[in-house]
Amino acid sequence: MNISSAIFDCSAPDLDSCPDESLPEFAFIGRSNVGKSSLLNMLAGEQGLARVSPTPGFTKMINVFTVNGNWRLVDLPGYGFAQGAKKDSDRFNEAVLDYLEHRANLCLVFALIESGLRPQEIDLQFVEWLVSNSVPFVLVFTKADKVPETVAQANIAAFMERIAAWFEQAPAVFTCSSETGQGRRELLGVIDEAMTAIQAEARQAMISPEGLQAPSPKPKETGKRRPDLNRPW
Ligand code: GTP
Ligand code: MG
Repeated sequence: MNISSAIFDCSAPDLDSCPDESLPEFAFIGRSNVGKSSLLNMLAGEQGLARVSPTPGFTKMINVFTVNGNWRLVDLPGYGFAQGAKKDSDRFNEAVLDYLEHRANLCLVFALIESGLRPQEIDLQFVEWLVSNSVPFVLVFTKADKVPETVAQANIAAFMERIAAWFEQAPAVFTCSSETGQGRRELLGVIDEAMTAIQAEARQAMISPEGLQAPSPKPKETGKRRPDLNRPW
């Protein structure tokens, strides 16, 4: 897939402030400092599009970017960073969870995990939450340039072993580096495939009788198990 344009759209403090739901969205989530904003820039092919910082907890809003005029990349605040007013971190936490649970045009989440670390409880808990809330996601192991491949592969295998019981079919796994561009082709391929499927569905809806009905919005579900907001994420 070629990226011909990537444009900053808006910074939203919560779900209600996000742009309309007209375009499919692909969102980045993961621990603070895992490399979400860097990966977004790497995929978009534009350094400086999303702001990157060595300081954890840097991205504080739901940042939306429109790509090629017909889909969006969404940079989310990370979890696991407790500094700052608790009220603020609760608000961001709530906004991110709200977005992940209720955004009707959220097509796929890239759940980022640092490839140089052994499985972290906080990441395991977050992945479990994604599973129990039926959020579609793939796993992306980041910063592959920082560790020998054998170490990354051992960490990935250990992570997959910890989560294996939660799935009939394990999620797709990618390894990437925003420094070297590793994984760019594969991740853009995932987006391309999803967009092709969405476009085929839209064409089908136009020619089938059901297509004449307005699409029903994803219902807001209540009573879902949500993570305890006092947790670090
Ligand atoms: P928050 O917004 O704080 O949640 O962080 P983030 O997940 O958006 O991370 P960000 O992209 O800001 O990167 C954090 C730090 O990691 C920065 O210093 C980046 O330069 C560095 N970094 C990100 N990706 C890579 C990578 O692939 N390789 C290496 N070596 N460093 C990376
Ligand atoms: Mg960021």
